[in-house]
Amino acid sequence: MKNLLNISIIAIFGLFLLLNSCEHKPKELIKPASKDTIVINPNSVTNCDSSIAYFKNDILPIFTSNCTGSGCHNAIDKVEGLVLTNYKNILKLADTQNPKGSDLWKVLVSTDPNKMMPRTQRLSASDRNKILKWMNQGAKNDSCNAGCDSTKYAYAADIAPIIAKNCLGCHATGTTKIGSYIDLFSQYQNGNLLTDLNANSAPRKMPPNTNLSACDKKKLLKWIAAGGPQ
Ligand code: HEC
Repeated sequence: MKNLLNISIIAIFGLFLLLNSCEHKPKELIKPASKDTIVINPNSVTNCDSSIAYFKNDILPIFTSNCTGSGCHNAIDKVEGLVLTNYKNILKLADTQNPKGSDLWKVLVSTDPNKMMPRTQRLSASDRNKILKWMNQGAKNDSCNAGCDSTKYAYAADIAPIIAKNCLGCHATGTTKIGSYIDLFSQYQNGNLLTDLNANSAPRKMPPNTNLSACDKKKLLKWIAAGGPQ
C-alpha cells in the first residue's frame, strides 16, 4: 500500500514536471519571434516629451538658423559681443525667475526696428513660445531622442521639416531660397546642396554655424542620392 502511494506520488510529480515543461515550450518558441519584433533602429524610438522645450532639439536650431547669419551673432561678426551658437552664451540672455522680463524675451517681442530681434522679421509665435517655455522650465541644457529614422527621406514628411528648422532663418528669402520643393530641388539640381552639406568650412559649409544631426544629414544625402523626389 505504502509502495503504491510512493509510486503514485512519483507519477503525479512526473506528470507535473511533464505538464510544466510542456507549458514552457510555447514560451521558448515565442522567444525568437518576439526578438524579431524589437525595433531594429533604436533611433526610431522617441523619448521626447511634447510638453518640454529641449535646448538641443528645440531651442538651439532657432538661434543658429535665425541669429547667426552674416553680420549677426556668429563667431566672426560677434555683433554686440554675442556669439549665439552654444548653450553657455544663449543662457546668459535668459532669465528663469522672470522669463518675460529677460533681455531675450524683450527683443523677441519688440516691434521697434532698432530693438527687435531678429532685426528684419520677428520669429514665429511658435518659436517665441518655445523659447519662453524653455526659460519657464529652467533653461536647461537638455535634449531628447527625437526618433529620427535615417532610412526615411520623403520630401514633405522628412526633408521639409529639417530645412524649416535648420535653414529657413537664413533661406526663407534672399539669394538662395529653399523653403519650397521647387526651390530646394533646384539647389539639388545645380549641385550646391550636396557640395554645401559636405563642406566643412566657410563659406560653403551649411548650416554655417552649427552641424546638422548625423541622422538629419543622412536623410538629406539619401534624398539627394535618390534624385530629389517629391
Ligand atoms: C546662419 C545663416 C544660414 C543658415 C542657417 C543656412 N545658410 Fe545656407 N547660406 C547662407 C549664406 C549667407 C549663403 C550665401 C548667400 C546665399 O546664397 O543666400 C548661403 C548659401 C547657401 C546655398 C547656395 C550655394 C552657396 O553655397 O552659395 C545653399 C544650397 C545653402 N546655403 C543651403 C543651406 C542649407 C541646406 C541649410 C540648412 C541645412 C542652410 N543653407 C543654412 C547662410 C545660411
